[in-house]
Amino acid sequence: MRVLVAGGAGYIGSVVTAALLADGHEVTVLDDLSTGHADAVPEGATLAQVGLHDSAPVLADVRPEAVLHFAAKSLVGVSQQQPEDYWHTNVGGSLALLEAMRAVDCRRIVFSSTAATYGEPDAVPIREDAPTRPTNTYGASKLAVDHMLTSYAVAHGFAAVSLRYFNVAGAAYGLGERHATETHLIPIALQVAAGQRESLTVYGQDYPTPDGTCIRDYVHVEDLSDAHLLALPAPAAGEHRIYNLGNGTGFSVQQVVEAAREVTGHPIPVTVGERRAGDPAQLVAASDRIRTDLGWTPKHTDLVGIVRDAWDAANARR
Ligand code: UFG
Repeated sequence: MRVLVAGGAGYIGSVVTAALLADGHEVTVLDDLSTGHADAVPEGATLAQVGLHDSAPVLADVRPEAVLHFAAKSLVGVSQQQPEDYWHTNVGGSLALLEAMRAVDCRRIVFSSTAATYGEPDAVPIREDAPTRPTNTYGASKLAVDHMLTSYAVAHGFAAVSLRYFNVAGAAYGLGERHATETHLIPIALQVAAGQRESLTVYGQDYPTPDGTCIRDYVHVEDLSDAHLLALPAPAAGEHRIYNLGNGTGFSVQQVVEAAREVTGHPIPVTVGERRAGDPAQLVAASDRIRTDLGWTPKHTDLVGIVRDAWDAANARR
């Protein structure tokens, strides 16, 4: 298929681009490089350095048969301070992209949604029919696009899938996380091990969990990538599917730090700090829907293996 990958110079988008190329697809990456890296775009893909708001001429030129849409601002904390950027890029930009698709009669899309659309869950594991009550603008902006896709499916015959990622980690095709502003637990722990940071602050040890630290569902980027390739052809015209993507197993911050110590052989000193605003105690996915519908089976469920892949990719770059 001829596909356009919006945000293909970012962490997850670049891995999926590599997987699409390996699967024989023809890929154009659309990315303004505001947070992505040109050198992360896999060889064989064409890069158009353009933002979502200006995407129409690129789509008119490429005439894609499908779009995978990863391009977004994704820092939860910043989304609370500068919500206008999140509405402008994540919602306004997505609307511009959908309109650019409609103009060239391309109506198949896979969208990167998030567990942050659910907010504080009533029950864990979280199913797709759980209430969506985002606690930050980032999650609200992603939920708005999910609603946009439902209406575009109904009114304009789009075939759409929203994939709600839980905590994506690990690396594939040598491509790992490389954020200028790093907020995620696993890369921060590995930066301490690499001597790039002094220590790691554990945000709260008084949560109602067995060791008092927050529990998250870490899903390997390669498993996530597999899900995109399965999702791409799945919906019929007029259908919008929503799938959670997680391993279904939760690990605490403490367990992640221990896994990072085991992988790196570094003591990784930690200090216990205050809770981070908006962090739910536990986020674990029920991913039965995509397993049943599409036969998705995560292969990398071992936390140490996920952390090791992230460590190896980070070291290969150093
Ligand atoms: N944490 C620390 N210290 C750190 C960094 C993180 O203790 O230095 C803790 C957090 O408090 C949290 C856990 O580690 O309990 C995981 O935090 P991350 O920042 O790695 O990930 P989040 O669970 O906050 O966020 C992820 C995605 C978001 C998405 C969210 C959905 O990165 O994009 O899941 O719930 F919105």
